[in-house]
Amino acid sequence: MAGTLTLTILKPDALQNGHTGKIIDHILGAGFRIRAMKLIHLTAAQAGQFYEVHRERPFYGDLVKYMSSGPCLPMLLEKANAVEDFRATIGATDPAKAAEGTIRKLYAQSIEANAVHGSDSDENALREAAFFFSELERV
Ligand code: CMP
Repeated sequence: MAGTLTLTILKPDALQNGHTGKIIDHILGAGFRIRAMKLIHLTAAQAGQFYEVHRERPFYGDLVKYMSSGPCLPMLLEKANAVEDFRATIGATDPAKAAEGTIRKLYAQSIEANAVHGSDSDENALREAAFFFSELERV
């Protein structure tokens, strides 16, 4: 059975462009419950650790630089079928390919500065949730 948790990050471009409130509203409107959230500014080392799975990809260095360029807002979200439903809510990684009405279509700048992260599997959702939030920080 699909899990009920997914991890998102409102990325530095979303915060800098003043899209935070609209994106949170969109997420709540799509039926997700916020279990935890925190405003943080990742160091390059922390961003590198979070995106460790992409270390060998050509965009890794730029991604780490970008994700540590300003504050971001990780959130732990709950809903039935959370990972798949959230990926449908945010749209394709590249906003040029994202479906109309999705968060990335509405708010992303580029394939790198793509407004939001979404976990790609239940296993990664749990790993990513533990990266940002202790059990005590979840409601
Ligand atoms: P995200 O869903 O957070 O997961 C990995 C991130 O790497 C992705 O969003 C983008 O921000 C970035 N990314 C993925 N593919 C590319 C690419 N081809 N070029 C630049 N950045 C990318």
